[in-house]
Amino acid sequence: MPLTTTTEMFKKAYDGGYAVGAFNVNNMEIVQGITEAAREQHAPLILQVSKGARAYANHTYLVKLVEAAVIECPDIPIALHLDHGPDFETCKSCIDGGFTSVMIDASSKPFAENIAITRKVVEYAHDHGVVVEAELGSLAGVEDEVNVSAEDSSYTRPEEVEEFVSKTGCDSLAIAIGTSHGAYKFTAAQCTRNEQGVLVPPPLRFDILEEVSRRLPGFPIVLHGSSSVPQEFVKMINENGGKMPDAVGIPEEQLRKAATLSVCKINIDSDLRLAMTGSIRQYFAEHPDHFDPRQYLTPARANIKAIVTHKLINVLGCAGKA
Ligand code: G3H
Ligand code: 13P
Ligand code: ZN
Repeated sequence: MPLTTTTEMFKKAYDGGYAVGAFNVNNMEIVQGITEAAREQHAPLILQVSKGARAYANHTYLVKLVEAAVIECPDIPIALHLDHGPDFETCKSCIDGGFTSVMIDASSKPFAENIAITRKVVEYAHDHGVVVEAELGSLAGVEDEVNVSAEDSSYTRPEEVEEFVSKTGCDSLAIAIGTSHGAYKFTAAQCTRNEQGVLVPPPLRFDILEEVSRRLPGFPIVLHGSSSVPQEFVKMINENGGKMPDAVGIPEEQLRKAATLSVCKINIDSDLRLAMTGSIRQYFAEHPDHFDPRQYLTPARANIKAIVTHKLINVLGCAGKA
C-alpha cells in the first residue's frame, strides 16, 4: 500500500487500546532496522524526520529511503511525518515534498500565537491531504539545537485543550505530562534510586492525561520524549569506551499504560540511538582491526530491529494491528 496518513491508524489505535510507534530516521540502516521489525510484527508504523535529520541526510534521500521501505513492506501502513516542524515554511516544504503528516511545534510560543501558526499549517496541510500534529505544554530535554531546562518546561493545562483543538483544527495533540527528550531525562535530584543504584524518575502525570481525554473524547493524544533508556545499552556503551553516567528514561510500564488510554502515538528516538551506538562501540572494541562499515553497521541495524520489535510487542501493543 502507498504511504498513508495517520487518520485511520489513530482511530484503530484509540479504539483498540494501543499506540503506534513513531521512530526517527536519519539513514538507511535506521530505516531498515525499524521497518524490518514492523513488517515482521505486522504493525502500523510512523517514520518521522526532524529538521536535524533533513539537514543531515537531505530531504530527498530520506523520502526515497522511506519510499523504498514502503515497497519492501507492502502489507503494513506507513506514514511519513515531520517531527517538531519549527515553522510554516518547513511544514510546507514537507507537505509539498511527499510527507503524509507534519507536526507544527509552536509550543514555546504564547497560546494565541501557537493557535495562529498551527491554524495556518492546518489549512495548508488539509488542502493537500496531509494531517497535522500540534503541541501544547513543553517538554524538558534536548531536541535539535533547542535545550529546554526542567524549570522552563511546563505541563499541558487541560483547561486550554478544547479551545486549542477547535480553533486550530489539528488532527492530534502532543501534551506534556512529564516525559522529556534525550537520554538524560531527569537529574539525580528529581529521582530516587533503586537497589541497583539506578535512578527512578518521577511518575508521569496520568491525572493530566485523563483530564485532557475527558475534555477531548476520542481525540488522539501524542507523547514525545518516550524513550526508556534501557540500562543494558547504557552499560554496553559505558563498558566499551563511552561515558553516559546516570542516563535515565521513562519506565516502559507507564508508556504501556498510556497506550491503553488516549495516547495513539508514542515517539521514540533516543533508545534507537543507544542501540546503534552500543553495538558499534562493542563491535569496535571486539574487532579493532576491522574498518568496513558494513561489518559494524550490520549488528547495529540488527540491534535497532531488536529494540523496535520489543517496543511494538511489549510497550506500544501494536504488533499484529496492521
Ligand atoms: O525530539 C527530537 C528527536 O529525538 C529528533 O532529534 O532533532 O536531534 O534529530 P534531532
Ligand atoms: P526520546 O528522546 O525520548 O526518544 O524522544 C523522541 C521524540 O520525542 C521525538 O520527537
Ligand atoms: Zn519530540
